[in-house]
Amino acid sequence: MIRLEDVCKVFAGAQGPVEAVKHVHLTIESGEIFGIIGFSGAGKSTLLRCINLLERPTSGRVLFDDTDITQLSEAEVRAVRRRIGMIFQQFNLFNSRTVFGNVAFPLAGRGLSKNEVAARVAELLELVGLSGREGDYPSQLSGGQKQRVAIARALASDPDVLLCDEATSALDPQTTQSILQLLRELNRKLGLTIVLITHEMQVIKEICHHVAVMENGAVVEQGDVFSVFANPQQAVTRNFMEMTSHVAGFRRLLKDKSPLLELKPGQCILSFRYLERNVCSALVSYLSRTYDVDLNIIFGNVEMIDGHPLGGLIVIAEGREKSIRDCIDYLENIHVGVEVLLNA
Ligand SMILES: Nc1ncnc2c1ncn2[C@@H]1O[C@H](COP(=O)(O)OP(=O)(O)O)[C@@H](O)[C@H]1O
Ligand SMILES: [Mg+2]
Repeated sequence: MIRLEDVCKVFAGAQGPVEAVKHVHLTIESGEIFGIIGFSGAGKSTLLRCINLLERPTSGRVLFDDTDITQLSEAEVRAVRRRIGMIFQQFNLFNSRTVFGNVAFPLAGRGLSKNEVAARVAELLELVGLSGREGDYPSQLSGGQKQRVAIARALASDPDVLLCDEATSALDPQTTQSILQLLRELNRKLGLTIVLITHEMQVIKEICHHVAVMENGAVVEQGDVFSVFANPQQAVTRNFMEMTSHVAGFRRLLKDKSPLLELKPGQCILSFRYLERNVCSALVSYLSRTYDVDLNIIFGNVEMIDGHPLGGLIVIAEGREKSIRDCIDYLENIHVGVEVLLNA
């Protein structure tokens, strides 16, 4: 549906040119939720704004349904933009207008009667879970409710695509969850294609199908979310992974020779990392039954991504040396990453 081909964006900065986006190639399929993650300044917002030409790429092509929209006239670009809604971190509502006025705004000049506009606004507010709040002003709403109004407004022109620029970054974790849930519902119910950018790993894990990782203006890694985070190739991707796991903390305990990790003879500490989509949840009990090894889970960080466990476990294994070796061989065979972290 959307294809970026070799897109570059250079800004004229005070200290010379700033290459905000460098040679980006991306394909976004119709009906998917595509996430772009990167630290602040990576070029995410600029890239997102290149999709609806709020920012004109310096070079490269932006294809929307196979049409290169960088070649279109301003009037034609405006028509394309009606098919692309956008929401922002700071909601960007009109504070002097009511909820009704905000959501009805994009409907003006469409030749709709007053009643038709009212019906459409009611329908949109129902969709985002804000029925009956027509008369409120943004100042009377919570952050999550404001973002719901912004989503209703973005959907008023019935777009095919919704661009989300850090749409949950100003919200607390619980509200973030509810907005992500709403986006997931809209994706499913309406077949809405969603492109979101974020610096929060959780957002990607929670709702995205595909992810691109950005650093210094370039996309350094992309693919389906499970594959990218099960086998991160780039340091920046590993960084994002570690931020939401506690493995780093465990490694510090290990490095500091913490007494918490003192082992008895015959024990060792192993880490299991789930690298592929084939790991069954009964792994630990299977191993102890089959190989006569006791496995005591001392740390676990397993999440379901796309219906498959991603993450890993750290266990104290106790048993005969040969049994533990067989255990490790078995795990390697089924493509679980195993590392011996500590031997007694
Ligand atoms: N209008 C602009 N003029 C000059 N530099 C800009 C402009 N917009 C963004 N930049 C620069 O481009 C880089 C990427 O910015 P941005 O796309 O906002 O990153 P992100 O959204 O990942 O934080 C930054 O170095 C930023 O300072
Ligand atoms: Mg940004």
